[in-house]
Amino acid sequence: MYTGLLHLHSFLRYVVLILVLLSIFQAFAAGNKPYTPANKKVNLFALISAHTQLLIGLVLYFISPNVNFSDMSNPTTRYWTVEHITMMVLAIVLITIGYSKSKKAVEPKAKHRAIYIYYTLAIVIVLLAILTMKGRPMWNI
Ligand code: HEM
Repeated sequence: MYTGLLHLHSFLRYVVLILVLLSIFQAFAAGNKPYTPANKKVNLFALISAHTQLLIGLVLYFISPNVNFSDMSNPTTRYWTVEHITMMVLAIVLITIGYSKSKKAVEPKAKHRAIYIYYTLAIVIVLLAILTMKGRPMWNI
């Protein structure tokens, strides 16, 4: 189960990255244009993919041999026990806030702005977390 979930979680990172990038691109390019159902769908799928990563990540957290609170002097263990979860949860919270702010906003411009501000902050954090991954190459799937 560990290996299967790790592969799924690893593959899903690309889905999250592509959907979040697409959301940012369309929100940035929209300017004063209407907030279309297609825009909303991409933003929502990005949110769903991030929440799916959170669920799989939480299961992995309890079964991973690399999560170990009593071995904090080891950079690999520390990364997977503390740094990865902290950065990723923060990124997912930002995506959730961005989607909810965009949903509540009335003006199309404000809806787009909430997406590109919060999703951009989130993707920067996700990329930082992936680039600083310990114990394996970042493209590993
Ligand atoms: C957008 C969110 C996330 C992305 C893009 C992401 C990405 C990744 C990647 C690329 C790996 C390495 C997979 C491999 O080497 O095959 C990984 C592993 C892992 N992630 Fe995440 N992750 C995310 C969220 C989370 C969250 C929220 C948690 C915890 C609640 C989590 C816990 C883990 C654990 C425990 C591992 C396995 C470490 C190991 O056993 O070596 N991830 N993640």
